[in-house]
Amino acid sequence: MGHHTFDAAKADRLEGPERYRRVSAEELLGALSLDGTETVIDVGSGTGFYTDDVAVAAGRVLAVDVQPAMHAFYSEKGIPDNVSPVTAVADALPLTDGSVEAAFSTMTYHEFATAGALAELARVLAPGGRLVAADWSGDGAGDAGPPVAERYTPAEVRDQLSEAGLTLERLEERPETFLFVATVPGV
Ligand SMILES: C[S@@+](CC[C@H](N)C(=O)[O-])C[C@H]1O[C@@H](n2cnc3c(N)ncnc32)[C@H](O)[C@@H]1O
Repeated sequence: MGHHTFDAAKADRLEGPERYRRVSAEELLGALSLDGTETVIDVGSGTGFYTDDVAVAAGRVLAVDVQPAMHAFYSEKGIPDNVSPVTAVADALPLTDGSVEAAFSTMTYHEFATAGALAELARVLAPGGRLVAADWSGDGAGDAGPPVAERYTPAEVRDQLSEAGLTLERLEERPETFLFVATVPGV
């Protein structure tokens, strides 16, 4: 877990409205609860499929991805003016402490969520800042998505967030996925 990286050569598979069956733009935006002024990180932004949905409701979005090829695909598609692509790993974000109000990640938590990455997100989020993630669940059947062995279970997610000092506000389990909202203490 936390090691397999999505193959950029298959980036076109990340585009298409059927993806909203796993997590819709509405539930993502509802969980983020933005007022339109915030700076938000998309962790593992890929082709920007969900980045675009969040950008319309945020002040600025930092689209963080480790693969320049993903940013190239996004650039070809058209990056909104308030989105800045950032090539970085989640464990080492080129951002100052407490400089973003929210972070989100779609279908990528299993690829990046090491203890170091969660500590890094806790560092760059401002007190009261919100982390929202939807991903394939280790309790799922594995009929779609990455192999079950590469995913985290909701129980593991609870432990990871607690170890990173984040407060779990909500964790919803679905047949194949989960969605959680966690916050940084301090407000
Ligand atoms: C399965 S894709 C999902 C992309 C996007 N979130 C979406 O839902 O369309 C995962 C993306 O996360 C990126 N990624 C994986 N591990 C990462 C890490 N540790 N730091 C930054 N990006 C990472 C991969 O390069 C890939 O573009």
